[in-house]
Amino acid sequence: MKTFNVDIQTIENKNYPIHIGENLKQNIIEFLNDMPTKKAVVVTNETIFELYENYLQAFNETNLKIEFCILPDGEIYKTQASLDRILTCAFEAKLERNDLFIAFGGGVIGDITGFAAAIYLRGINFLQVPTTLLAQVDSSVGGKVAINTAYGKNLLGAFYQPKAVFSDLNFLKTLPKREILTGFSEIVKYSFIEKTCAIAFSDFAKFLFENSLDNLKTNLNIVAQTVYRCCELKAAVVNQDEKEMGLRAILNFGHTIGHAVEKTTNYALFTHGEAVAIGMRAAFLLALKLNKISVEYFDFAQKLLKSYDLDFKLPKDIPAEKILEALIYDKKVKNGQVRFVLPVDYATVEICSNIDETIVLAVIKELY
Ligand code: NAD
Ligand code: GLY
Repeated sequence: MKTFNVDIQTIENKNYPIHIGENLKQNIIEFLNDMPTKKAVVVTNETIFELYENYLQAFNETNLKIEFCILPDGEIYKTQASLDRILTCAFEAKLERNDLFIAFGGGVIGDITGFAAAIYLRGINFLQVPTTLLAQVDSSVGGKVAINTAYGKNLLGAFYQPKAVFSDLNFLKTLPKREILTGFSEIVKYSFIEKTCAIAFSDFAKFLFENSLDNLKTNLNIVAQTVYRCCELKAAVVNQDEKEMGLRAILNFGHTIGHAVEKTTNYALFTHGEAVAIGMRAAFLLALKLNKISVEYFDFAQKLLKSYDLDFKLPKDIPAEKILEALIYDKKVKNGQVRFVLPVDYATVEICSNIDETIVLAVIKELY
């Protein structure tokens, strides 16, 4: 097991460990036994519960009284109704301030459980046990927790850090191929922003380019190295800017148009990672049109995305204008202006505002 600490520089001086390795069940049990807590509500979904019932039942071997809250599966359930269900489970289980939520699942479960933990009794502890590649490399780290609303993606939420993250790589063995690719979308994202993360540069894009998808899918050591590097990059950014006052927005590379695509397709057509891949292509097209990057870098980025099967097209029945309209609900909007995270050099991005809407529309039209 490889472990490192996220040390967030705030007045509360938050820090927590991220454990990455295989067969971490026993480590989780030991961690739970060491917590000053009597009860926990484990939040998961129907699919994961069916796959990992034995793993989950082992939590009953701890000193804690465990209750399960099992949600239906899917991004469409990342809603206020599901949040209410989790909170009801917590009230029924009589969770107290010292008690714990355990988010056992992908990014949907992690985000919604974290939000419940942030507001229940004004905040109780929670543990992240991410079971998807996307959640292990991104959503379980950094404390962004949220639900979707009719107006857009992740619009109600908080910054609320977990007590610890346990990324058991064995979970990835049951992930469908589509969900592996979805995780790679966020992984490739880190390679496009690596230099701007302001920690030692490793040329992660080259590493990804040289390691084929098949290699990464079958070699757990390389996967572990990849998950570790992504967490390291994300933690470095979050340590510098937990509440997204500036730098942290770079983690949203590809997300501005990505979130609009998810919303306009009712969270049903594309996974989050697929929508982000579309958004990253849009960001590269936009940067090329604005002369911010060379044709060579643009071509390299397209090849890298394609080598991870991340070249998706928008469906013809969703008008480009509808996607443009949805952009106004992006959380980076400032004074009514949409701001984009754009590539400006190899592995380097910048936050850009005042971009002519007609150029953005032209770029969206190239995504079909
Ligand atoms: P997800 O949580 O919907 O999981 C994807 C699918 O995989 C689901 O059907 C799930 O049931 C299934 N699954 C989970 N673990 C499995 C396993 N081990 N074996 C087989 N199937 C399994 O989606 P996701 O891609 O994990 O997360 C996407 C969500 O994460 C989005 O809501 C996005 O907004 C959020 N997100 C948050 C952050 C953040 O910083 N908080 C960052 C990135 C993404
Ligand atoms: N996924 C974007 C962030 O954590 O800031």
